[in-house]
Amino acid sequence: MMAKTPQSIFVCQNCGRTERKWLGQCPDCSQWNSFVEERYRKPSRSVSVGFNGSSVVQPFNQIEPQDESRSPSGIGELDRVLGGGIVPGSLVLIGGAPGIGKSTIVLQAAEKLCLSGSKVLYVSGEESEKQIKMRGERLGIAAENLFLLAETSLETIFAKTAETKPSVLIIDSVQTIYTETIESAPGSVSQVRDVAAKLMIYAKQTGTPIFLTGHITKDGSIAGPKTLEHIVDTVLYFEGDRHHNHRIIRAAKNRFGAANEIGVFEMTDRGLVAVVNPSELFLQERPANAAGSIVTVCMEGTRPLLVEVQALVGGSRPGTGRRMTQGFDHNRASLLIAVLEKRLGYQLSGDDVFVNIAGGIEIDEPAADLGVAAAIASSLRNLPISPITAVFGEIGLTGEVRGVLQSHDRAREAKHLGFKKLIIPESNRKGLERILGIRIIGVKTLDDALEAIFSDV
Ligand code: TYD
Ligand code: MG
Repeated sequence: MMAKTPQSIFVCQNCGRTERKWLGQCPDCSQWNSFVEERYRKPSRSVSVGFNGSSVVQPFNQIEPQDESRSPSGIGELDRVLGGGIVPGSLVLIGGAPGIGKSTIVLQAAEKLCLSGSKVLYVSGEESEKQIKMRGERLGIAAENLFLLAETSLETIFAKTAETKPSVLIIDSVQTIYTETIESAPGSVSQVRDVAAKLMIYAKQTGTPIFLTGHITKDGSIAGPKTLEHIVDTVLYFEGDRHHNHRIIRAAKNRFGAANEIGVFEMTDRGLVAVVNPSELFLQERPANAAGSIVTVCMEGTRPLLVEVQALVGGSRPGTGRRMTQGFDHNRASLLIAVLEKRLGYQLSGDDVFVNIAGGIEIDEPAADLGVAAAIASSLRNLPISPITAVFGEIGLTGEVRGVLQSHDRAREAKHLGFKKLIIPESNRKGLERILGIRIIGVKTLDDALEAIFSDV
């Protein structure tokens, strides 16, 4: 085949859409000024070989299943989001805002892996070996089999891995690494994609697990990990902000385990420390007897988590009030406000309504509906909710309270944290009577739920 001359294309640096001409606004993601000219060569044929190095059609029955022997990373909360440990040959992307702790977690994991017999090569395109060493000393790292390399050329990195033969490879970060087969600048969409694709092939061919970090801005833009999600095996995102000490790592995608699993850490002066009981952490600053605050039980992956929902209703004025949410879907909150108005006769249209999930965590589960609705009702009526009450349940458009999954785990976690009264969907109540020492009230409608919540008996 004749080699094609490099072609110039315009790539949206936000979502990866390609165009032949420059556009001011991306038709896919609506981002302005996101198109950048990139010179792109088709990947050479050697790149597209099968993952075992030979593209051969094989009968299903004769394929040896992949050895699912996961090795623990040594950091329990990280293993949890990975689905039980590190899978050989997997490419794991760790995304997050700058300064959130990506380099810290990979360095800590590197040490733990070395202690359990792995040989780890930590490649940094951002920091010098000396800088990494300094960070390592701060973290108290003294691992023997940990090797550092400050390098940005992917081809050189592969030459070095051929010499060093690490059993685990860390690349920090994908935006700083470039491959020579592509002419555009490091960090551009074509570069980060091609780098990730080549690392994927390396991982599969050698069975070496690779951790790849990637920066992401608050709105998820700039050639970020988003454009890599479909290439890599596992995507872990750091959540939390610099105003809180805790950091959450969430599995957004995992070919080897459940997605949406979270790991909770605290950033200390000696690096990230796993939080043993996250519910306690999220409830520790809960105000006593304040209107507009209630505890709800969410599932994050397989783990129940108690969080405080806060609402503030006020500032009545002509016209429509503002609705603002933090940590909870804006449209979902509007829907719950509409249900409160239409089905229960609450007057909210002129009021500003703010909803906040305390502690900076994001809740993306209909089971939190009842908590959000109750918090809004509590603030509007200026009635505090008893601090020993917790709730969960989905709310439908007619004001019905619908059952949710894993009610057992949720109820047990609430009991475990000392809650005495639990208001849940009637359809979830069956079988929960055996959880002793906690009063469980099943409700069918939001009206009933609010009555049970505000009656203190
Ligand atoms: P870092 O891992 O460098 O972030 P990223 O790689 O995601 O950009 O983390 C940097 C932040 O973490 C920085 O603000 C300092 C803080 N930090 C601690 O608080 N304690 C520590 O032990 C370390 C290593 C970092
Ligand atoms: Mg870093």
